[in-house]
Amino acid sequence: MNIVIIGTGYVGLVTGVGLASLGNKVTFIDLDEEKISNLNNKKLTFYEPGLDKYFEEDETFTNMEFVSSYSDIDWKDKEIVFICVQTPNNIETNSVDTKFLESAITEVSSVQNENLVITIKSTIPPYEIEKICNQVGLDMDSLTFNPEFLREGTAVEDFFKPDRIVIGGNDSSKVQKLKDLYSNFEAEIITTDPISSQLIKYLANTYLPMRLSFVNEAARLVKSSGGNLDDVLKGVGMDSRIGQHYFRPSPAWGGSCFPKDVVEVNNFYNSEEVNLPLIANIIESNKIQTKWTANMLKSIHNEKKLNGIVLVGAAFKEDTDDLRNSPTIDIYNELLAENMSTMIYDDLIKSEEYLSIEDFEKLEGAHLIALMYPVKEDLLSKINNIVSNTNSFLYTPWQL
Ligand SMILES: NC(=O)c1ccc[n+]([C@@H]2O[C@H](COP(=O)([O-])OP(=O)(O)OC[C@H]3O[C@@H](n4cnc5c(N)ncnc54)[C@H](O)[C@@H]3O)[C@@H](O)[C@H]2O)c1
Repeated sequence: MNIVIIGTGYVGLVTGVGLASLGNKVTFIDLDEEKISNLNNKKLTFYEPGLDKYFEEDETFTNMEFVSSYSDIDWKDKEIVFICVQTPNNIETNSVDTKFLESAITEVSSVQNENLVITIKSTIPPYEIEKICNQVGLDMDSLTFNPEFLREGTAVEDFFKPDRIVIGGNDSSKVQKLKDLYSNFEAEIITTDPISSQLIKYLANTYLPMRLSFVNEAARLVKSSGGNLDDVLKGVGMDSRIGQHYFRPSPAWGGSCFPKDVVEVNNFYNSEEVNLPLIANIIESNKIQTKWTANMLKSIHNEKKLNGIVLVGAAFKEDTDDLRNSPTIDIYNELLAENMSTMIYDDLIKSEEYLSIEDFEKLEGAHLIALMYPVKEDLLSKINNIVSNTNSFLYTPWQL
């Protein structure tokens, strides 16, 4: 099929490269000219395991074009446009910032091609889309929704083998077109109305951080009760109704999606009419965890009379260079505010602000080396060497 992808971020680029590798013709548009120039020069703009292999393949690359201006797109023969722009949280209003979507929808609303299937992949409540449609004079019922569930770090695998494909829409021929696009995927396709499609996305992104917060609260409880964290979590997770998967304590959770989606899910309802205390307190639980981790690091550091703290892993989780809402940065700032000598090391992100591996390996004196998430074998063996050479102390949130 002939496809347009609006936004070449994590979702847009992975989806478009995946679709191109399956034989579709894909035009990418991004207003960020530097990103488009890099992509045209076969340079990826972020790290995502396995993406380079597909992106650089000649057959895939010839199926793709990259433009930075809407006027460069020949819309006549296009069949589906996926809108994949960012939907961050607007801190002032504590609700989703729709300006990127507004601008993308405004552009596609003037396209003269009534068969074009306009599909929203960005995470956005339908009531916000309705407002934008009313502003630009677009019929909301003509839109389709195809929320995205990929996880940074395993996004390529998630594209080819999703757990499910969700399509929301009221126009059956447009919904069918999307089903045709995905017909060779093994995953079950759930077709539903626009609101349900977005609630599936928002509630999944509410349950997951809630589960992470539960494990973190369990870890704090075990720690204060003097139990053994490994044994307790193993024993709890062995209940088949609970499971061990996604059940690992962390310094706190973060990323470009969970924090803003949990904020937004609390805007779906009127809290004077509906009382959802669990959902309403997930963010608060995570804030407490961030402070708790910083305090824990500070007390270990002081108790053991160490020379400073090194946080290992700057991004919000392993296998990504995405720094958006990274708990490491929050913990780093908390520790600096307490005048603790603190540094960050990351093996994917090179920055003058972080320790280089050479400086890390030359560390002088005993430090508290805190893993923010599991690291690869070779880095772990380097860290173990540093620990034994300097009498440092290794901290991991999952082995308190
Ligand atoms: N990152 C994830 O892991 C993930 C997973 C599932 C769903 N989502 C959702 O998908 C959406 C996109 O997320 P992302 O992380 O890929 O975003 P991103 O910030 O990585 O990329 C968005 C891209 O859109 C471009 N853009 C903005 N306005 C534009 C416009 N009017 N026209 C053309 N390009 C424009 C930006 O320059 C940027 O390159 C969000 O709604 C997010 O919540 C993200």
